[in-house]
Amino acid sequence: TSLRAEARKQDILIGSGAINPTYLNDSNFAAVLATQFNSLSPENEMKWSFINPTKGQYNWDTLDRLVSFAEDNNMVVKGHGLISGCCNPDYLLNVTDRTALRAAMKTHFEALMHRYEGKMDRWDVVTEALKTQGGGLNNETFFYQVLGPNYIADAFHIAREASPDSKLFINENLVESLPGKRQELYNLVSKLVAKGVPIDGVALQMHITEVAPKPGVVTEMVKSYNELGLEVSIAELDVHTLDNELETDIYGAVVSEALDAGITDISFWGFTDKHAYTWIKGAKPLMFDQCYKPKSEFYATHAALTNF
Ligand code: G3I
Repeated sequence: TSLRAEARKQDILIGSGAINPTYLNDSNFAAVLATQFNSLSPENEMKWSFINPTKGQYNWDTLDRLVSFAEDNNMVVKGHGLISGCCNPDYLLNVTDRTALRAAMKTHFEALMHRYEGKMDRWDVVTEALKTQGGGLNNETFFYQVLGPNYIADAFHIAREASPDSKLFINENLVESLPGKRQELYNLVSKLVAKGVPIDGVALQMHITEVAPKPGVVTEMVKSYNELGLEVSIAELDVHTLDNELETDIYGAVVSEALDAGITDISFWGFTDKHAYTWIKGAKPLMFDQCYKPKSEFYATHAALTNF
């Protein structure tokens, strides 16, 4: 059976992120995506400089294509990249005035969220707010520099106004492996909640390098965010190691623990090791090989779903 068939029995979203719509031209790619997964999210195509490279001009074609592929195949589309550290076009980076920047965010969020209203029900609003290794908010990002630390709350308020019914996520990396950063994210999110900022969940990226998260860490995170009334999802799981056995174990362990902890939305950052299609070069981080043959990582994930 497929991952998708197993996931469906338990109402789980099992997805692939990092989908560049041009990959759909590859019929093998499209077939595996539609057969194995029931959700998808774009790689870069929703990031500001890709979708809205010059003021007032939107490149809808590629994203529309992704959305119609999802519709044709009964898949959920997850919005990724409303605010991200990278990929901001020059016309935006030239904005220095707070009011003007908030207005630009409102225009941009409304354009995206209104166009896909009813077609995308969950969005990563802010991605990578913290410094990569921890140590506070990343104060080098453009939005921080103009709006200060409140840019996060501003972004969630603007997103909620644009799309009252969507689920709004903060997306962060490495918290499963860095205890200090994990606590910082919790502190940040609990403050947002206490201030009434409209946030629905925490999307864990989970780009794992060599070392599996300690057993219990994901469970603990889910519990603490659930207590704040939030959900936790996995947004970008992949495993960077040349040790296939270790990688397989990590896939199985992470997916099992996530399911046991109550996570119902798990996405991988792509699914094929085909060189051109993964951001990680020189490793084989995904569940299918470059010819779309399922690897042992796939079987470990499948078993985790089946045994859940
Ligand atoms: O499109 C331009 C092209 O015109 C130019 O010639 C070329 C030269 O470098 O760059 C192309 O843009 C690149 C883009 O990917 C598309 O290929 C950017 O330089 C490159 O930085 C960008 O990398 C993406 C990265 O995010 C940065 O945004 C990766 O594809 C993408 O997989 C990665 O995804 C992120 C998630 O959004 C957030 N979490 C971490 C994850 C992995 O870094």
